[in-house]
Amino acid sequence: MKRIGMLTSGGDCQALNATMRGVVKGLANNLEELEVYGFDDGYKGLIYGNYRMLTSKDFSGILTRGGTILGSSRQPFKLMRVPDEKGLDKVEAMKQTYYKLRLDCLVILGGNGTQKTANLLREEGLNIIHLPKTIDNDIWGTDMTFGFQSAVDIATAAIDQIHTTASSHGRVFIVEVMGHKVGWLTLHAGIAGGADIILIPEIPYDTNKVIEAINKRAKEGKRFTILAVAEGAISKEEAKLSKKDLKKKLEDDAKKYPSVSYKIAQKIEKATGLEIRVTVPGHTQRGGSPCPYDRVLSTRIGSHAAKLILEEDYGYMVGIVNGKMKKVPLAECAGKLKEVSPKDQTIEAAKRIGISFGD
Ligand code: F6P
Repeated sequence: MKRIGMLTSGGDCQALNATMRGVVKGLANNLEELEVYGFDDGYKGLIYGNYRMLTSKDFSGILTRGGTILGSSRQPFKLMRVPDEKGLDKVEAMKQTYYKLRLDCLVILGGNGTQKTANLLREEGLNIIHLPKTIDNDIWGTDMTFGFQSAVDIATAAIDQIHTTASSHGRVFIVEVMGHKVGWLTLHAGIAGGADIILIPEIPYDTNKVIEAINKRAKEGKRFTILAVAEGAISKEEAKLSKKDLKKKLEDDAKKYPSVSYKIAQKIEKATGLEIRVTVPGHTQRGGSPCPYDRVLSTRIGSHAAKLILEEDYGYMVGIVNGKMKKVPLAECAGKLKEVSPKDQTIEAAKRIGISFGD
């Protein structure tokens, strides 16, 4: 007999349901008795005791369904130790819900912030398994997060669509890709979509170099240029600022421009007189069904989580490293960000074939 709680927290992604299905099927197939409690809207449900008892049936037919059957919300880690507006101690409340339900383990699906709270609950003595969800692929300790490849597909499709219209009009286009503070999604979708210039936060750009790359293409007789720009892209000047000054600068920019791509477009337009068009696929990148790669990854991750629960081996994130499932101690990975290394072979390969990173 096992009694597990499950929650999905932070921004959603395509393969959350597929992963939960893997956990529950992996347990139900190997236990006489199983109780599953699903908490509503992430940590909120755990704090305020909003949950539903679920059965195996709830996890059938959801392999291909995007979003999350549990709902999600953002509950910032830095506010977890701050009492709510009614003075409720959130950490204590989460522990009370866990003990009241006599859970054997809490399975938490989420990104970096979610993982930090998962680790905090582990430190408080709860049995925790964290499963790495995010389209950003920025979780340290796993080569891949579920949701990433599905988002790569969508962002790539957006760049593909822009190609035909860019070519007809002979224009410069920017496609802005999500990814928060890292460039994984932009790097992969940019290469897959055949972008000519890729700008990511880990390689601050020089506007003059970006313009040089556009002009070079024009000289070669190319009618159009496509830039894949990460939502977190920063310039070389911005990279020199202190963390505090950069935050202030980006806040000021957010008042002037809808997003970073519009700022970059304006800089290029001013310097060259070229007309630039910006496309922002935004949250479409998190929507719809998981791609086949993610369905397999989620099934493996969910099933491996079930294995750990059956063995009563808690306190880990389940990741994939060199193609193999790996349990990574939460104490080791929580709070670390996985960024793209500017020396990454994928970057080298892209540069070799003439893709500019604006550096
Ligand atoms: O972390 C996933 C993500 O989609 C990021 O790529 C993006 O910066 C952020 O979430 C958007 O958050 P929200 O859905 O809260 O606007």
